[in-house]
Parts: sequence; structure tokens; C-alpha cells
Amino acid sequence: MTNKYIVANWKMSPTSIAEAEDLLAYIDEHLQNETENKEHSLIICPPFVFLDDVSKILSTSRLSGQAELGAQDIALADFGAWTGEISGPMLKRLNVKYVIVGHSERRWKIGESDEVVNKKLKTILANELTPIVCVGERERNNNFQEFLKNQIKATFAGLSADDISKCLIAYEPVWAISSNPGAYPDTPESALESIFVIQEVLTVNCKLETRNLPPFLYGGSVNATNAKDFLSLNEIAGVLVGGASVRKEEFIQILKNS
Ligand code: 13P
Repeated sequence: MTNKYIVANWKMSPTSIAEAEDLLAYIDEHLQNETENKEHSLIICPPFVFLDDVSKILSTSRLSGQAELGAQDIALADFGAWTGEISGPMLKRLNVKYVIVGHSERRWKIGESDEVVNKKLKTILANELTPIVCVGERERNNNFQEFLKNQIKATFAGLSADDISKCLIAYEPVWAISSNPGAYPDTPESALESIFVIQEVLTVNCKLETRNLPPFLYGGSVNATNAKDFLSLNEIAGVLVGGASVRKEEFIQILKNS
């Protein structure tokens, strides 16, 4: 298996830095002992309040060089009066390399529009950080591919082909996210069909050449059992893991199977 991205989106967990340290110590220990010879790019995206501590742990532990730091959001502006926001330059000072943008929990629970997602995406790129752009339909109905196409066009509006090729794109159908009622994982085959729809918009509408298409990840109820099925497909470059990324034994299983 080629090098795959394993992105841990901790969301609003764990509840204390002590738990975060424990989780990282467990990953460190088991990564060294059990996932030797495994090729993966591990990206940890903790809540903002833990970024500083996690950054120090990643740079001073054996995880140094084995895991990168990601943020879960970014301010629209780099400087100025933006109560409650965290800017790109602030993230960079903490050694953040990736930023999640367009996550459905921000789109649907907080009300971030495609326009806001698009502006944040441009801010991430302007700060020379790598965006992990989340897209996905809310419901799997007859129109879902149309919804997806429109979301992609709006999310990437005004970006050059070169900029789009610098992103990671996570196809994360909202109905598959484990915290949503009745959630169940997509199948690798059907996730791949959606990824092809996204690729078509990027090549036809955004003028990307096929060879410059960015890596595509799958997210939504990824667990220790199904991760390898998604990761075994050449077209799926990684997984974006929510709930299972803070269940330490399960997360190590995902890494072992990647
Ligand atoms: P789950 O893995 O808990 O379904 O969450 C997916 C997700 O939202 C990752 O960004």
C-alpha cells in the first residue's frame, strides 16, 4: 500500500490536556512498536486550546517527523478585530501545517456558507498552509450528485488549478458521520463514485489536468474494521477520522491497517 493520509479530527475532544497527553503517549508507544514499516502521513487536529501543547509534544517526542499538526478552523482575516477567532499567522507560529475547512459540522451546525468556506480556503492557501477541504452531501437522495457538484463549484470558486492541486479533499457525506442519528459508513465503491463526480467538476469546470488532481480522502464512520477497505483503493489517498481518532486502541488499529 502506498503512503496514505490518516487525519485525526479530534473535534471537541478530549476534555482535558491530561487526556490529550495520554492519547498521544499511547499513539507514540504503539506507533513505534506496532506499525513499523507502515507508510502513512499522520495528521493530528486537536481543538485550538490544545494546539500549543500538542505542538510541543509532536516536536519533542518520538512522534517528531511522524505526525504533523492540523487545526480545525481558521479566521477569515490575518489581523484585526475578530473576537474569538484564531488567525493563520497564529496557527503557523504553533507549527500548524494543515487546516480543516468546510467541515459539515461548521457548515450545518454553525451556518458557514459556501462563500465563507471559499474565503477561508483562500486564507489558508495565502498563509501557505495545506487545506483539508471537506465536502459531501447531507442526504443521499436522487439529487445528491447535483448537490455535490454545486458545492464543489462554490467551494473552489476563483481558485486557480494550481491552488486546488495543493489541497487535500475529503469526501465526507454528512449522513455517514458517526455522531449523526442513524449514521452508517459509505461503501468504498460508492465513495469512489462520489470522488469521481468531484474530480469531474475539478477537471471540467476548474480546468485541472487529471495529473494535477489533489489527493482524495474519505471520512464518515471510519473505524478499525472498515479503514483498510477504503485505504486499499488507489484513488483513496487517506481517511479523515472523527470519533475513532480519540479511541486510542481503535485508532492504533486503523494505523496498523493503513
Ligand atoms: P466520524 O469518524 O466520527 O464519523 O467523524 C467523521 C468526521 O467528521 C471527521 O471529520
